[in-house]
Amino acid sequence: MKWGFLAKPEGVPRYLVCNADESEPGTFKDRYMMEFLPHLLIEGMAIGSFALGCRTSYIYIRGELMYVFHILQEAIDEAYAAGLLGKNILGSGIDFDLHVHCGGGAYICGEETALIESLEGKRKSEN
Ligand SMILES: Cc1cc2nc3c(=O)[nH]c(=O)nc-3n(C[C@H](O)[C@H](O)[C@H](O)COP(=O)(O)O)c2cc1C
Repeated sequence: MKWGFLAKPEGVPRYLVCNADESEPGTFKDRYMMEFLPHLLIEGMAIGSFALGCRTSYIYIRGELMYVFHILQEAIDEAYAAGLLGKNILGSGIDFDLHVHCGGGAYICGEETALIESLEGKRKSEN
């Protein structure tokens, strides 16, 4: 159903954004997974992005989790070096770029529309 909300693939680029803000007090399942199994998230982003026709995707991580940001960035760098991200992945002809973006540490940025505004560098909705 969620995938049905996407714009038609023709003409406009599509982006998959992973909400890794996880700011609810006491929650840590996403942090734990990203900290100890970062490649699992990268693989999931690559497969999901392929399925959705996204050539560029983003992981938006909570600002306070800077050390996890570095773990993810290192794992992404490894994936690029292994030819699992970037241009012509494993000779398949498929291009895919993945970025990890650190939020400013605002709870509201976990809400999906605010998250996108933040990712785009805006301070608040322009509507
Ligand atoms: C104030 C507020 C904060 C939120 N924070 C988070 C968050 O930290 N992480 C999250 O995954 N979803 C958060 N959400 C829910 C997101 O808006 C959205 O529903 C969610 O990312 C969808 O995740 P799903 O695709 O896994 O269902 C928040 C919603 C609100 C209203």
